[in-house]
Amino acid sequence: TIPVITIDGPTASGKGTVAHRVALHLGFHYLDSGALYRLTALSALRHNVALNDEHALAKLAEKLPCKFLGDEIWLANENVSNAIRAEEVGNTASKIAALPTVRHALASLQHGFRAAPGLVADGRDMGTVIFPRATLKVFLTASVEARAQRRYKQLIEKGFSASMENLLKDLRERDARDSNRAVAPLKPAEGAHFLDTSDMTADQAVEQVLQWYAA
Ligand code: CDP
Repeated sequence: TIPVITIDGPTASGKGTVAHRVALHLGFHYLDSGALYRLTALSALRHNVALNDEHALAKLAEKLPCKFLGDEIWLANENVSNAIRAEEVGNTASKIAALPTVRHALASLQHGFRAAPGLVADGRDMGTVIFPRATLKVFLTASVEARAQRRYKQLIEKGFSASMENLLKDLRERDARDSNRAVAPLKPAEGAHFLDTSDMTADQAVEQVLQWYAA
């Protein structure tokens, strides 16, 4: 069977970077499931779909015209790799991610990423809901301060403006929303390995995941 490594954790914990590097190292495919929620959110914002219109949002998610080309993410004919990283899009993503119909619409898309020789999937519910029988499950965390700093750096690098004060507030709100929602709340999967990366470099975290995988 095709091996799957799941890496779940709170916002800005660095799981994207770690998951991506682990996938590169092993030659595995990579699923950034958060990007699918962000794409749905961006699409909703662009089409003025009300954020409480579950039916319309699920339809958007089901027919998402997205393409993953190497490191680039495309929506229809537009490279939205940077646009989906805006805080507004992340916040909207976290709101619509609480809707069961949206999660359901994105599930089969996510299962489709599982292909030989293997998959590294990052998100909130990769180990709990989408790939419950994964070969290795990791729950990656970091302190709120470390995460706010990482998000700040990421936003500035992408050309967005950002303030630490707002980011801390956003992070706390997003954590609460992701952890307290009724469907697929953020929580460690059964059998998950815990990794607190507050005082770790990305490479050290990658090393640890690879060690667990090899063990
Ligand atoms: O970059 P950040 O960690 O803030 O977010 P992301 O991983 O890009 O995901 C954006 C939002 O999508 C999160 O706040 C979650 O609410 C939602 N999400 C989810 O519900 N389930 C997933 N598997 C991935 C993301």
